[in-house]
Amino acid sequence: MDLVVEGRAYIRGKLAPWCIGIEGGRIRATKKLLKGDEHLDFGDMLILPAAIDSHVHFRDPGLTKKEDFNTGTISAAFGGVSCVLDMPNTIPPTLTPISLADKVNAIAGKAWVDYGLIGGCSPRADPAAISKAVIAYKLYMASTTGNLLVTSDADISRILSSIAVTGKVLCVHAEDENMIRNLPEKTLDDHDKNRPGAAESSAIMRLSKLPGAGRIHICHVASNEAVGMLEGMPFTKEVTPHNLLLDKNSKLKSYGKVNPPLRDRGEREAVFKAFQEGKIDVLASDHAPHTIEEKEQEFSEAPSGIPGVETSLPLMLALVKKDRLGLDVLLRTACERPAEIFGINKGKIEVGRDADLIIVDGTSMKKIATKNLHSKCGWTPFDGWDAIFPHATFVRGVKVVEENGLVGERVGRDVVAGKHPIAG
Ligand code: DOR
Ligand code: ZN
Repeated sequence: MDLVVEGRAYIRGKLAPWCIGIEGGRIRATKKLLKGDEHLDFGDMLILPAAIDSHVHFRDPGLTKKEDFNTGTISAAFGGVSCVLDMPNTIPPTLTPISLADKVNAIAGKAWVDYGLIGGCSPRADPAAISKAVIAYKLYMASTTGNLLVTSDADISRILSSIAVTGKVLCVHAEDENMIRNLPEKTLDDHDKNRPGAAESSAIMRLSKLPGAGRIHICHVASNEAVGMLEGMPFTKEVTPHNLLLDKNSKLKSYGKVNPPLRDRGEREAVFKAFQEGKIDVLASDHAPHTIEEKEQEFSEAPSGIPGVETSLPLMLALVKKDRLGLDVLLRTACERPAEIFGINKGKIEVGRDADLIIVDGTSMKKIATKNLHSKCGWTPFDGWDAIFPHATFVRGVKVVEENGLVGERVGRDVVAGKHPIAG
């Protein structure tokens, strides 16, 4: 064995003392005792699967003053995330073989963790043209950052059918553009009123009635009605830490402006309860960094989006410690289900999977401090919140973070390109 990692590992749903044997970046054995060329004994610390954050906006290429693949993946590694799925609303948008090749070139050699690229949808682009190189697709049914809006049922149906043929998942930003008002807004409450929860349910209902759909994943569900409606539907669903933890009544001003919006406390608590009860498939950050300068503009001018790839898992680990969330629910939504849904060989400590692990000291609760985070955007709505950051993060057996420092090499690679190499 190249490497053996020892500690209290989460295997088959239980924490117990284990040795994990790693060779060629994969888990080769899990035994009570194992010998390896290198042996790292973490004593009482926990060994958990690293998280897969299936919804991030790393802004590369074209918007790299907000974030790039270097800073985004460093943030991910410090937050215990070993794989990210990056959204297509970059400049140019990831829509065609040419723009995809642009992206592949722009991010080459920058990543500290693994990644998959999500392709965009537009009324004209042919999804099949990029199907071999993307891990999934993203459909925006409402306007938000970027220029990838598709509103007509005819266009959406065509997109559903062409993506169904590829067998890939279609991630949907489900707010109905027809129900969004563009009245002037000054507060988070105005923003919520302009983009009400009913716009989410309406988009989901429209989708469910259209023919041709394959595998559909509803991103960032933020309203209780949408959660309830999705219970009877064959769609998978995702929530974000900000929609679980922040209300529109907070003092965040435009820093809390996001689509879909932060809602009221009752609504948020209902979505949180569904999450606690294991009714939501995926926890993903929707890491959407914008600069402080951009967020400091007039409320109506400020762009929507909240960063979160580095704080998502640490915030939730703190809730596990406080008995507000089951460790099983957290690992299912942050690791196992994203791996299953998107077909990624990670997310579980099991022989044959990538050795993507985090080491967690359950006693190391601390307050989030903006100055300790690594996103280029330089702010977080969670400053001062309790969190448990990982002591170390491994990507395919390579330690990339340890004790608040970046170590090792930049090993990140495209989880799809490994299967189907593309030119570019
Ligand atoms: O608030 C949002 N920001 N919602 C989105 O759908 C996109 C995101 C961004 O890219 O900034
Ligand atoms: Zn997003």
